[in-house]
Amino acid sequence: MKLENKVVIITGAGSGIGAATAKLFGTHGATVVVSDINLEKAKKIVSQIKKGGGTALAIKTDVTEFEEVESLIVTTVKEYGRLDVMINNAGIGGKQQLKTADHTHDDWHTVIAVNQTGVFYCMKVALKQMLAQGHGSMVNVASLAGLKASGNNLSYSASKFAVVGMTKSAALEYGRKNIRINAVCPGYTQSALLDQLLSVSPGMGDKLKRFIPMGRFGEANEIAEAICWLASENSKFITGQTITLDGGTSL
Ligand SMILES: NC(=O)c1ccc[n+]([C@@H]2O[C@H](COP(=O)([O-])OP(=O)(O)OC[C@H]3O[C@@H](n4cnc5c(N)ncnc54)[C@H](O)[C@@H]3O)[C@@H](O)[C@H]2O)c1
Repeated sequence: MKLENKVVIITGAGSGIGAATAKLFGTHGATVVVSDINLEKAKKIVSQIKKGGGTALAIKTDVTEFEEVESLIVTTVKEYGRLDVMINNAGIGGKQQLKTADHTHDDWHTVIAVNQTGVFYCMKVALKQMLAQGHGSMVNVASLAGLKASGNNLSYSASKFAVVGMTKSAALEYGRKNIRINAVCPGYTQSALLDQLLSVSPGMGDKLKRFIPMGRFGEANEIAEAICWLASENSKFITGQTITLDGGTSL
């Protein structure tokens, strides 16, 4: 993949899909800014990338705070001169699995703030930089829950449908500016977020696997492969698209 020397920011890169993506960018020779609300987790990923001979920097960012997002991008550009790739991955699943009438205000506001407003803030600030430098590529991490109905988690579903919509609308706006914006839509993928969902009731994992034609959950590095490809110049005529990685669940 053509990623050598690309300057890349990944939000929520301290664990799961974001961490796997940061490490994969690192192995392809990119300069990786590992951003997470949890600085310790981000630092661990940075040291793993550096051990493999890569270049990486940890920056603490809460994507729900606009000033922190601005500072993330300003610091990256000060350090490395530009921002070639922005991966908007930070996301949370919500605490409870309840039907819409019982969905809590707390879950609604928290999930929308991270998964939807956070992506908006990151897109807005990254686009300003990409417009100024005349190029860029962005990948948003949406979900299968942003393409089809999923019960008992309205805020998550709303936020991920919004990410797909923001991806397509912004791609339409910036096609002529040499900026591509795409999204991945993972199905159930092994991570802390999935562990939290599985802890809701015993046997939940087996129940969910019955709906997956390939009979297993995805792995974070399988999602990372698609993110890196969409971000790279190997996919340079693709914009405004979603790639679904779900072992056939959507079938
Ligand atoms: N795991 C799945 O089954 C699955 C499926 C579809 C989509 N996704 C999406 O993939 C993305 C990554 O999730 P994951 O499964 O790797 O989960 P994860 O919990 O392993 O990783 C999420 C990371 O985001 C960070 N984070 C949380 N709130 C943040 C904030 N406000 N600002 C910055 N960072 C923050 C966390 O510290 C964590 O390191 C999310 O957007 C999630 O919705 C996951």
